[in-house]
Amino acid sequence: MEIITRVAEMQARASAAKKNGQSIALVPTMGFLHQGHLSLMQEGRRRADLLVASVFVNPTQFGPQEDFASYPRDLQRDAELAAGAGVDWLFVPEVDDMYPQGFATAVTVSGLTEVLCGASRPGHFQGVTTVVCKLFGIVQPQVALFGRKDFQQLAVIRRMTLDLNLPVEIIGLPTVREPDGLAMSSRNAYLSAAERRQAPALIDALQLASAAVKTGERNVERVLALVRNRIDREPDAVIDYAVICNGTTLQAVPEVDGDSVLLLAVRIGRTRLIDNHTLFEEVDIP
Ligand code: PAF
Repeated sequence: MEIITRVAEMQARASAAKKNGQSIALVPTMGFLHQGHLSLMQEGRRRADLLVASVFVNPTQFGPQEDFASYPRDLQRDAELAAGAGVDWLFVPEVDDMYPQGFATAVTVSGLTEVLCGASRPGHFQGVTTVVCKLFGIVQPQVALFGRKDFQQLAVIRRMTLDLNLPVEIIGLPTVREPDGLAMSSRNAYLSAAERRQAPALIDALQLASAAVKTGERNVERVLALVRNRIDREPDAVIDYAVICNGTTLQAVPEVDGDSVLLLAVRIGRTRLIDNHTLFEEVDIP
């Protein structure tokens, strides 16, 4: 595996590979890799001749009061894990090279981005779509892989790719979980031992909701009451949102149906955790 740090070099290598007829898969990450990222890389490895992963803690997707400075970073460990997962090129650009002096462009997806995480984190999705669009331009992948844990992010990236006719197939892969069900996330590293013990409340709540739907409950308020009651049992947990919405439009729905997804964001102490569940298992959204 090679580590490439310059944007121009990454783009030149990708262009040359494409000229040689090689296909490229991209796994964009902010590093501090975990099994969720590795599952994306393993799938990317199967889908293209060359596998590129990026590690870039993207400043434009963090609000002024958010954790950009303290976001966990460990490039040496990331490089070892990425090499083990079959990555050919690990792209690790500098902030000044991605956003040079005079940078003045942003990619905005409206509608999907003002709700849910977009409401709590204004500007976050514009930062995500701008950097992902740039990564697509630099790495020129045929396929890009993202985790379904970030359900809204995946929906927004799909919308952007469709709207801008970007020639990239977007693959969403299932959430990878710790043995107790907590969705893997680089931010789990922030949880204290006491907070970590409370974190499985999210998967418990999703499972309670899913069980109720399986036994015929369709009333959104009653399903959400089960979710809220479960989360509220934890002393340090504060719900940011618990919403049942359409998996494509992300608009709240009055009744649970086959396209519904339950999306959850909960603060435990200072750590904000997200998780989600498509309430009818057989439906694959997005
Ligand atoms: O999901 C993430 O880690 C980031 O939002 C992404 C897609 C790498 C863009 O910075």
